[in-house]
Amino acid sequence: MSLSGKAKVAAVIGWPVSHSLSPRLHGFWLERAGIDGTYIPLAVAPEHIHDAIRALPKLGLRGANVTVPHKEAALQAADQATDRARRMGAANTLVVNADGSITADNTDGYGFLENLRSGAPDWTPAAGPAVVLGAGGAARGVICALLEAGVPAIRLLNRTRARAEALAADLARHFPAQPIEVGEWEQRETLLAGSALLVNTTTQGMHGQPALELSLSALPLSAVVTDIVYVPLLTPLLEQAKQRGHVIVDGLGMLLHQARPGFTAWFGSEPIVDEALRSHMLGFVGR
Ligand code: ATR
Repeated sequence: MSLSGKAKVAAVIGWPVSHSLSPRLHGFWLERAGIDGTYIPLAVAPEHIHDAIRALPKLGLRGANVTVPHKEAALQAADQATDRARRMGAANTLVVNADGSITADNTDGYGFLENLRSGAPDWTPAAGPAVVLGAGGAARGVICALLEAGVPAIRLLNRTRARAEALAADLARHFPAQPIEVGEWEQRETLLAGSALLVNTTTQGMHGQPALELSLSALPLSAVVTDIVYVPLLTPLLEQAKQRGHVIVDGLGMLLHQARPGFTAWFGSEPIVDEALRSHMLGFVGR
């Protein structure tokens, strides 16, 4: 679709940015809604990130997504931030307001939860504790989203225990009433007992990485299993869970759902995640 002089412009900022699937995603929604707008990739080096973000209103952009390695800098450069972005210490979505100020948001946890709710509609936060594997930035988003939704407790397991301890201590300040219990990585299989949800946020099982070493035999069959890895879509962990009869949720939907709030704010139309979008995006995954 060709653009008019009034076209609304948004972007994804990263370094590098060439791997980003976001232009494909927003491009699909723009075309489907027939919006006079565009969404472009911007490769910005770390030394220029602050200036680049401050230039967004001056250039008339509606806002931007921000990806690795700029998520922390984006939060710093914005004029104000949502609570969830502050809790994350990082932003993935910037919105230019009518007065030219910039609001930083973080929709990664939202995307995780929306994907979980749509893939496992019978799961409820009150169902029981969630086991989270991994303690990086992705784990932080997942844990915040689960605790905000009302999950009673988190069992956090990471190969490097000290990293899990540090994350748990930091998040405990925001969620004092919901325990984040750190367990031993070596005991991860027994710690699955009694949990209602298992989330893999480690890189294990990703294309090119070995599979996560984990037998699910202690996990209640009622538990939902989800992986934030989406290349491949069916990770060895999800394959095992599927064979045991668990409800499984793959990671692609998290990418799709995290993009919704930004699109709505920039282009004034609420996009939906459906099979047509999933199959469009699957054409680009792993390339
Ligand atoms: P992100 O910010 O995207 O979550 P990350 O910070 O690189 O990425 O975190 C990757 C996660 O995968 C970490 O929890 C990491 O564990 P460590 O903290 O011990 O490094 C986990 N991970 C990576 N390789 C692993 C392996 N071979 N076995 C178990 N966990 C692994």
